[in-house]
Amino acid sequence: MFKKTTVKTIQSMKQNGEKIAVLTAYDYSTAKYLDEAGVDIVLVGDSLANVALGYNSTQSVSMTEMLIFTGAVARGVNRALIVGDMPFMSYNVSIEVGMKNAGDMLKAGANAVKIEGCNDYILQLVKRLTDSGIPVLAHLGFTPQSINTLGGYAVQGKNIDTTNEILDSAKKLEQAGAFALVLEMVPEECAKYITEKINIPTISIGAGRYCSGQVLVSDDMLGKFSDYQPKFVRKYANLKNIMLEAVKQYCKDVKEGDYPSETEIFSLSKEESEKLGTLENANT
Ligand code: KIV
Repeated sequence: MFKKTTVKTIQSMKQNGEKIAVLTAYDYSTAKYLDEAGVDIVLVGDSLANVALGYNSTQSVSMTEMLIFTGAVARGVNRALIVGDMPFMSYNVSIEVGMKNAGDMLKAGANAVKIEGCNDYILQLVKRLTDSGIPVLAHLGFTPQSINTLGGYAVQGKNIDTTNEILDSAKKLEQAGAFALVLEMVPEECAKYITEKINIPTISIGAGRYCSGQVLVSDDMLGKFSDYQPKFVRKYANLKNIMLEAVKQYCKDVKEGDYPSETEIFSLSKEESEKLGTLENANT
């Protein structure tokens, strides 16, 4: 029997000094294996735009697409906390639209949503969502949905002033009700400083060793996605090569008539087969 992980479980992990393991998943069977392997949070990240849908940017994925993948992941997970990533412009237009879309994420099977950035509007939204029973995972540092205003893919919080700006936002998001905070691509000293100064857990993606937990895109760490690889990714497998080898072998077996073999087919009884004459035909 499994015990469902809740936002309270995740928060108590920081208090108990137990690291939080987070990975992304976009489909039913991957989600099932991550859950079985012991991941604490399964994030249906908008990174699926790149790794599952082949878009150039996470800004291209729609709410409708996110809901389909969230439903698939939710059907595979029994134990881990499921966080649905709110895609670009699904929460920025108005509080009402943001609330409706976040509600749809929970209806699709997520237990919480992730929202990037911090300003007065986001703080108001985080508060409204939390008050309505929708837990929010905040996201600061490099926020990919703002790549155009940030001026590119770059480490954030590189000096004391910007570190304090991130800390200030982190405190406000905690105050507004966020249950945890993703810190993306900040120096580890900055992430450590922030982690020590807030109560909610911090989850690092390229933010070093002192956060309360770590998150990676599963297709990166499993070596399945190979278009590019950030510095912070550790590759635990090379699924790309395993898949290429398997598919090459399958093509060879099909072309050489080696697949399917006798154990991989359905057969008629001898009597029925004789009536059809298929055995004879097959041999002529
Ligand atoms: O979309 C994503 O995968 C993310 C990261 C934090 C892993 O937001």
